[in-house]
Amino acid sequence: MTLAMSGQTVSIPKHIAIIMDGNGRWAKQRLQPRFMGHRAGVKAVEGIVKHCAQRGVEVLSLFAFSSENWRRPGKEVSLLMELFSHALKNQVKKLHDNNIKLQIIGDIDRFSESLQQQIYLAQQLTKDNTGLTLNIAANYGGRWDITQSVQQLARQVAAGTLDADAISEELINAHLSTASLPEPDLFIRTGGEERVSNFLLWQMAYTEFYFTDVLWPEFDAGQLDRAINSFTHRERRFGRTSEQLQDKPDA
Ligand code: IPE
Ligand code: IPE
Ligand code: MG
Repeated sequence: MTLAMSGQTVSIPKHIAIIMDGNGRWAKQRLQPRFMGHRAGVKAVEGIVKHCAQRGVEVLSLFAFSSENWRRPGKEVSLLMELFSHALKNQVKKLHDNNIKLQIIGDIDRFSESLQQQIYLAQQLTKDNTGLTLNIAANYGGRWDITQSVQQLARQVAAGTLDADAISEELINAHLSTASLPEPDLFIRTGGEERVSNFLLWQMAYTEFYFTDVLWPEFDAGQLDRAINSFTHRERRFGRTSEQLQDKPDA
């Protein structure tokens, strides 16, 4: 999707990937338990999903639970699982009514049987929707994703159906959990930390990064527009020169 800005045509990001960070600190500022921050974080998700759909973003990837988040206190982990299950129960119909396709990426085998079943049903229900793809990363790690892709290929090599020399970037990409999605154009991390925390490592090789101190529960449509606006002012060269992009290759 494109829009006109100061005479130039600039593109809205097709795929936005977000690390929703700062829930705990938001709660702490209010002298509340961390869990209240996660609850407020779910509310913020609703607003951002709606705004992305309205602005014509095609894919929104949200990091909900990392493969490292199991290291948190058991009580917080189980509350996060409950919250995830609760949010699925309450939101799936609404997502479906809005033509949103829900996809979960990550190693979901570690979740309870009932949560796995909920995930399966939600994906089944919304799989043919043609609006925004909402891609939730749960028990996700970028290194896990690359590893599981390579394992699939290694099995094919062992079975004699794939030549090791035929393993290419395209083939590794095609076996990642995001195989059906375009690569993220814009990566946003709220909460002030400036790191990737094992999110979409392979997929973000050429993604534009945007960091904000705003804590996730306070990240709203206006904040998202700021990030998108920053994105539209960037020159994505993908290794080329600025002149090449302006169609003056010899300048
Ligand atoms: C992000 O917020 C949510 C999850 C990791 C589930 P945090 O819980 O990391 O919040 P802070 O970083 O402690 O403020
Ligand atoms: C990253 O946030 C994962 C999610 C937002 C789900 P963390 O707050 O757990 O990241 P680190 O471990 O501090 O880098
Ligand atoms: Mg954090």
